[in-house]
Amino acid sequence: MSKTRIALIGCGGISRSHAAGYQRLSDRVEVAYCVDPFEKNAQERAEQLGAKPVASYEGILGEVDGVDICTPHHLHYQAAKDALAADCDVLVEKPMANRREECVELVELAAARDRRLMVAYVLRYMPAMAKLKEVLEAGTYGDLIQVASSVEARVTGEHLPWAAKKDQLGGGVLFSHGCHTLDLMVWFAGRPRRVAMLGNNVNAEWMEGEGTAQVIMEFGSGALGHHTSSWALAHKNAIPSMRVWCRDGFLELRGNNLVALRGTETETLYESPQGDVPAMSRQIEHYIETIRTRACPLTDGATALASLDVIWAAYESRETSQFVELT
Ligand SMILES: NC(=O)c1ccc[n+]([C@@H]2O[C@H](COP(=O)([O-])OP(=O)(O)OC[C@H]3O[C@@H](n4cnc5c(N)ncnc54)[C@H](O)[C@@H]3O)[C@@H](O)[C@H]2O)c1
Repeated sequence: MSKTRIALIGCGGISRSHAAGYQRLSDRVEVAYCVDPFEKNAQERAEQLGAKPVASYEGILGEVDGVDICTPHHLHYQAAKDALAADCDVLVEKPMANRREECVELVELAAARDRRLMVAYVLRYMPAMAKLKEVLEAGTYGDLIQVASSVEARVTGEHLPWAAKKDQLGGGVLFSHGCHTLDLMVWFAGRPRRVAMLGNNVNAEWMEGEGTAQVIMEFGSGALGHHTSSWALAHKNAIPSMRVWCRDGFLELRGNNLVALRGTETETLYESPQGDVPAMSRQIEHYIETIRTRACPLTDGATALASLDVIWAAYESRETSQFVELT
């Protein structure tokens, strides 16, 4: 089988980790183009990957099998749409696009052209999270009572000027960063039936969207969910917290490991080995596999849209100061 050809679109911060994922797959993948109007970034990433730096994706989409979109959020939609229309498979960084209509259009276009549309919810590719999903699905610890997640960070506008603008970021910290663990909560517990949100901008006055968000939700089963995300804190947890309480045990992500507590006993359900493959590289490998096998990605467009719907319902709740029901 010939190598899968990729164009990396957007060569800023996160593209470095994507590039490391492609380097690991150099027997199967050729990153042919690194696309960025900011020449220095395109050059730097192209040198890392042995690719050709270009300022725009115009004229190159016909030469690659797939694209990997790592641009600011407000540019995801157009790049994904152009790539799908050119019959490329698409991996797009989260969130898929800033508006629901745009996401729906991308999902429909991918289906119509039989293309992969995958959204980079990297935490789903952590083995500890996959293990958590497995034990919840098996019912090993009994009924789910509640699930809580938190994302704790300090982000300022210096390096991400586009994040200050709500129309570019698509919202605030919940949309941009909290979307990862909210997506996990929906994966674990299903679609909530109602949701409510509060937010503020304390120590995040630089951004138009909320800098701190708190969301509560009630799932179809009656289980409860609590999520908090913040870019306004004095510390950063590189790995978010995920805690799940079931009738017969408490499950917690500790670093890259998953532990279960039952009474006074603690059991490690997943222990990350030394030199474990990073989740980002696993995610890139999954994308390449889906291009080659035509399988549906774990985090396809429809799946990503389902968890974005929860965020948009949360924003509606913040505006109306009411619970919002999800149909
Ligand atoms: N999964 C994660 O943990 C994680 C972490 C950080 C960022 N992200 C996501 O990655 C994406 C990019 O974020 P970032 O932090 O790398 O931002 P960034 O600002 O560092 O990089 C964005 C890059 O896109 C380039 N760009 C702008 N317009 C372009 C265009 N028309 N065509 C091609 N390139 C263009 C910019 O010049 C810049 O180099 C966002 O979706 C963000 O949410 C994910």
